[in-house]
Amino acid sequence: MVVVTLANLKGGSAKSTTTFNLAGVLSEAGFRVLCIDIDPQKTLGEAFFGVYAGQTALSTVLIEDGLIGTTVQATNFANLQIIPADDGLKAIKSGQTQIEGGELRLRSCLTRIKADIDRTNNINQIDWILIDCPPSLDRLTMNALAASDYVLIPVDPGAGGRGALGDTIEYVQSAQRWYNPTLKVLGLLINNTDPRTVYDQATEEVVRETYGELVFKTIVTASVRVRESSEAQVPLVYCEGSEFVRYADMYRALRKEVLQRTGWQRGMNGQEKN
Ligand SMILES: Nc1ncnc2c1ncn2[C@@H]1O[C@H](COP(=O)(O)OP(=O)(O)OP(=O)(O)O)[C@@H](O)[C@H]1O
Ligand SMILES: [Mg+2]
Repeated sequence: MVVVTLANLKGGSAKSTTTFNLAGVLSEAGFRVLCIDIDPQKTLGEAFFGVYAGQTALSTVLIEDGLIGTTVQATNFANLQIIPADDGLKAIKSGQTQIEGGELRLRSCLTRIKADIDRTNNINQIDWILIDCPPSLDRLTMNALAASDYVLIPVDPGAGGRGALGDTIEYVQSAQRWYNPTLKVLGLLINNTDPRTVYDQATEEVVRETYGELVFKTIVTASVRVRESSEAQVPLVYCEGSEFVRYADMYRALRKEVLQRTGWQRGMNGQEKN
C-alpha cells in the first residue's frame, strides 16, 4: 500500500482535480484506490465524486476513535472508494477541537486501516491511498503528511503559485523533521498551463530550473474539458467523448511516472510491486 498526500498551500492549484484524475487512472489500471478527502471544503468527496459522509465520518474517527473502515464509501467507479470530508473537520482545522494523538492521529488510523476495512467492508486490499488536503499548512495537512509515504505537489507555475510552493516545501521538510522522516516528495506537477503562450512557457522553465528532477515531465494543460469532467463527477479517463482523450492521456502519462518513481513495475492489477 502506497500513501500519497496531495498538498499545496496555494488555493486552486488543482489538488482536488489531480487527486480525482490520478485516482481515475490508477483504478483504470486495476489498482484498488482509496481517496481520503481531508479538506473541510469537501470538494473531492461531495463536489467531484458526489459522495457524502455517512453517520460515522472521518472527523468522528479522528476525534472520538472508532473503525476507520466504517467511513469508507463506494463511488460510481470500480476499484475506487472514498472517505469523504465532513463538517467536523472544520473544528480540527481551526484548533477548536483537539485530537488525541495530535499530528500522528491519521497515521495511526492508517496503520490499522486494512484490518478495519476487512472487518467493516470485507475489502482485503488497497493499493493506493490518495489524500486531498485543504489549501493551508494546518493540522489536517500535517496529519496527512505524517501518514504518507509520498507527497505530490500540484503546481500553479505563475508567480503567486511559486511563492506558495516554497512555503509548501518548507512545510514538507518540517513534516519530515518532526513526524515522518521517511516522507518523500513524489513530484511537482505543473498544471493548468498553456504551453503555447510565452508567459506560461517561461513560468514552467522557472519551476524546472528551480526544482529540476523533482518536476514531473508530464504537464496538465489548461482546458475546459478538465473542469467539465469534475462538474460531471466523472474522472477524465472515464469520460465518454473523443474530446476528453487528450486530457485522460495526460493523467495516464502521470500514472506512468508515478509508478516508476514509487517502484511499481508495470503496475497492472496491483500485483507487480518491486
Ligand atoms: N488543467 C485544468 N484546466 C482547466 N481548469 C482546471 C485545470 N485543473 C484544475 N482546474 C480548475 O481549477 C479550479 C481549482 O481546481 P481544484 O479545485 O482542483 O484546486 P484545489 O487546489 O483543490 O483548490 P483548493 O485549494 O480550494 O482545495 C477548479 O475550478 C478546476 O476545475
Ligand atoms: Mg481542493
